[in-house]
Amino acid sequence: MTDLNFVRVEWDGELAVVTIDRQDKMNALNAEVIAELGQVFAELRSDDDVRGVILTGAGERAFVAGADIGELATMDAVTGVQVSREGQEVFLAIERFPKPVIAAVGGYALGGGCELALACHIRMASDNARFGLPEVGLGIIPGYGGTIRLGRLIGLGRAIELTLTGDHVAAERAATIGLVTSVVPRGELLDKAKELGRRITRHGPVALRMALESIYRGADSPMADGLTFESSLFGLLASTDDMKEGMTAFLEKRSPDFKGR
Ligand code: COA
Repeated sequence: MTDLNFVRVEWDGELAVVTIDRQDKMNALNAEVIAELGQVFAELRSDDDVRGVILTGAGERAFVAGADIGELATMDAVTGVQVSREGQEVFLAIERFPKPVIAAVGGYALGGGCELALACHIRMASDNARFGLPEVGLGIIPGYGGTIRLGRLIGLGRAIELTLTGDHVAAERAATIGLVTSVVPRGELLDKAKELGRRITRHGPVALRMALESIYRGADSPMADGLTFESSLFGLLASTDDMKEGMTAFLEKRSPDFKGR
């Protein structure tokens, strides 16, 4: 990874830990951070040594406190659409990333930060995490997919209330409404996220990729189309070495050694 100013990538075995590091601005997403995130996920996508990604924010106080308000303040109607589309594109690439992406959310995940977490496949929060979509207080709406993804995740009723009030939601409440799947002590966040990542990435990479594909395609399709797509992927997996290895290993009472083929 070359020429990165605000995003760090570290490796922990087969997991890539991607850290947004712009601490003086609470890791707010300016155009450079968005572009670097796009670059990093594009490179990790084709790296066969990476089987999963943890996405987190540097420092104790914030995952990401939103899009950079200083930058947004200068936009006009045309650049506003552009800013929104560029962010949406990067966040969609994260959602469609072919390997599991876990958001490890410590501190504030507001506005674009909340939307970024929503684009990840799994969200784990620290006990000091706070989520919210405060955009309407700035005279705008969430523009990186938040008006679409939040309702799909937690239901329209709660999503509408959170979007219109701009209220913050603390970690425990976020877990209760399904915005995150687990809450852990702040000091243990990264270790717990990695532990979860390792529990997932020991499974067959092709199966993981196709499970994600089927789930997201299914969420966008009528039931009959989703089921047809699921069957196709199910059949396709029967042609993989990973399926043979997984089933042989079970029958031979040993751990599988998946190659991702
Ligand atoms: N964009 C740009 N800068 C931001 C930012 C954002 N979204 N969020 C925080 N910052 C900056 C602050 O301007 C401040 O910079 P400064 O020290 O140069 O003045 C620095 O980060 C620290 O933030 P500060 O507000 O002093 O910390 P706090 O603890 O009092 O409050 C927040 C923390 C997150 C509650 C508060 O910063 C906030 O509400 N941020 C904006 C959240 C938001 O509306 N996001 C959606 C944007 S679309």
